[in-house]
Order: sequence, then structure tokens, then C-alpha cells
Amino acid sequence: HRRDVSGMTSDTMTNTNSQPASLDPLLVLTKQAMARTNDVIIERLGSDVPLIPQLAGHLVAAGGKRMRPMLCLAGALLGQHSSGGAPGSDLPEAAHLLAASVEFIHSATLLHDDVIDMSDKRRGRDTANAIWGNEASVLVGDFLFARAFQLMVLTGDISVLDMLSSASARITEGEIKQMSLAGEPASPLEDYLDVITNKTAILFAAASESGCRVGGGTDAECLAMHNYGLSLGRAFQICDDALDYAATSDGMGKNNGDDFRDGKITMPVILAWGDGSAQERAFWQRTQAESDINEGDFEEAVAILNRHNAIERSLAAAEQEVELALKSLSGLGDTALTSALMSAALFSVKRSH
Ligand code: IPE
Ligand code: IPE
Ligand code: MG
Ligand code: MG
Repeated sequence: HRRDVSGMTSDTMTNTNSQPASLDPLLVLTKQAMARTNDVIIERLGSDVPLIPQLAGHLVAAGGKRMRPMLCLAGALLGQHSSGGAPGSDLPEAAHLLAASVEFIHSATLLHDDVIDMSDKRRGRDTANAIWGNEASVLVGDFLFARAFQLMVLTGDISVLDMLSSASARITEGEIKQMSLAGEPASPLEDYLDVITNKTAILFAAASESGCRVGGGTDAECLAMHNYGLSLGRAFQICDDALDYAATSDGMGKNNGDDFRDGKITMPVILAWGDGSAQERAFWQRTQAESDINEGDFEEAVAILNRHNAIERSLAAAEQEVELALKSLSGLGDTALTSALMSAALFSVKRSH
């Protein structure tokens, strides 16, 4: 047990100092289970149509952080532990099918998202759309969605089918609402939060909750994992959006400045618009609403955001979400697993990749 000087255990405090902001503890705890999940992922990418494993394999082989399946497996381990499973015993096969399904949903959305966003870098590689074109990417994305549903059905658990199928619908709702808001720098913050909840946070929530369910967790534990994933997911996307104006493309493995170029309205822009002078608002109007972007405009956008501390304020909002994620874990005991979940939540806003 980690204790600070006041004697509080780490599950009742939100003192983030004692906890590393890292995915590593979760990676270690799920390593063995993830090896089996990876086997399921590779098996299920197969198809007699060679372009499918070729294109999907390009994305999957590039890795990615595997955060969603990791959280799914962590949820299953938590549920297994609380329902009296022997420590170290294998997870039920349903947990691996589910974790693979979650990564397939994520991969499908990335293939579609990179077409919509016209992105040419992902996970440090050329995007599938840049190599094989938009049509192939959209169709293989559809294939991965369909495969994800087959995997869910194989779990034989209608409640997790409900969670993940609902999540899939919400992701698309989020992406479509985001498209409707594009080019509107005066968008209310509530609309932005609604978009990121749907397009990103719900899948983190469903991954964490459904894993806990098939692992044998109680209703209270499943709800805690849902809330944890939801807050972590919001923090993760707010951070991702802030980094689109702050990070260099190297660390993230994708290009920065995509959101600005696409007129995608994210938290930093909404905050800067709220505080903006007439001249600054005219700049956002020209570049975002009218898509009239010239050489040097991205640098100018970053300068305006910095004038209003909009990137820092966004990251502060993300940190508040992390605090909520940590609070959600407070009823789950003080174990290596809850500690690793805390570190993962902290990582979601301290990351550079
Ligand atoms: C990228 O998600 C899409 C967002 C929600 C920002 P990740 O950053 O988890 O992508 P990979 O899987 O690690 O590449
Ligand atoms: C990623 O969204 C796709 C979904 C969450 C569905 P973004 O467009 O914001 O993320 P990146 O920057 O391309 O990874
Ligand atoms: Mg994108
Ligand atoms: Mg982005």
C-alpha cells in the first residue's frame, strides 16, 4: 500500500504526485492476456481477399498503444479478482474476443477518420488512404466493423453486445456532429464536449465496462469502470486536440495542424474565440469558416492560442477529467491493478504519443 504523510491510502486521494503518468504498469499487468488477444486480432484479420489483410495489417502491424483492449482486459482482471478467480488464472476466452473486438472498432474508425480528415500520417506511417486510396480504406474499415460484431456475438453475452453496438453508433454520431460543427469557431463548448464524449470517450467506457462484465465483476464495479473509461476518454481527446496545435508530428506519429487545416473546431479554438478581439475573430472566421488558409496562418493560430493560454487551459480541463477518472476508481480497492489504472488515466494527459 502506498501511503502519503497524512496516512490516506492512494484510493482515497487524488494526489497525483505519487503516481507515475504511464501506461507501463498496465502493460505489465495485461502483458500475458494481451498476447492471447493479439493472436485473436491476427487470426480475425484473415480473409481470402488479399487486400483486406494487407491494408488492415498495415495499420495493425504499426501497433498503436492498444489502450482500449488493455482497458478491456484490465476490467476483466478486476472482475475476475473480485469474483474470487485465482490470481494468475487465465481470463475467459470471451475477454479476448471482446478486447479484439474493441481494437477492431477502433481500427475501423481510424481508417474512416483518416479518409474524412484527409490525413496522410498515422502511427508514424503513411495512412492506408494515402497508399491504397479512399475507397479501399472505407471498405476495409467496414470489414473491420463487421468483424468486430462477429467477435462480440462469439462472446455469447448480450449485455456486452449492447454496450459495444451502442458505442459504435455513438462514435458515428460524434463524427457526424463534428462534421456539422466544422468551420463554426463560435460553437458552444457543450457541443464540443458532446462530440468528444461520443466519438472517443464512449468506446473507452464500453471497453472498460464490458471487460469487467465478462470477467465477472459486480454491477457497481462495472459502473465504476464505465465512469473511469468515460472520463479518461474525454481527457484523452481534449489532450489530443490540444496537441494538434502544440506537438510536433514526430512524437505523435501523425501530423499536427490537421484540425486547423480541416476547420475542425476543438477546445483551444473555442476558448480563444470566446476571449478573442474583433481582429482575432476575423482571423478564425477567415481560416475556419471560409477555409481561406495561407502560408503562416497555422503559426498565427498558435500565437493567438498562446496569447489566451488556450492550450494550457484545455490541458487543465483535461486534467480535471483525469481527477474524475481517479475518483471513479476509489471504491475498487487499493491494488496493483487500480494503481495501474490510475497511472493510465494520468498518462492520457501527459502523453506525447
Ligand atoms: C487515436 O487514438 C484517435 C483518438 C481518439 C485521438 P489512439 O491515440 O489511441 O491511437 P493508437 O491506437 O494508439 O494509434
Ligand atoms: C479520431 O479522431 C477518430 C475517432 C475518435 C473516431 P481525431 O480525428 O480527432 O483523431 P486523430 O488526430 O485523427 O487521431
Ligand atoms: Mg483524424
Ligand atoms: Mg486529432
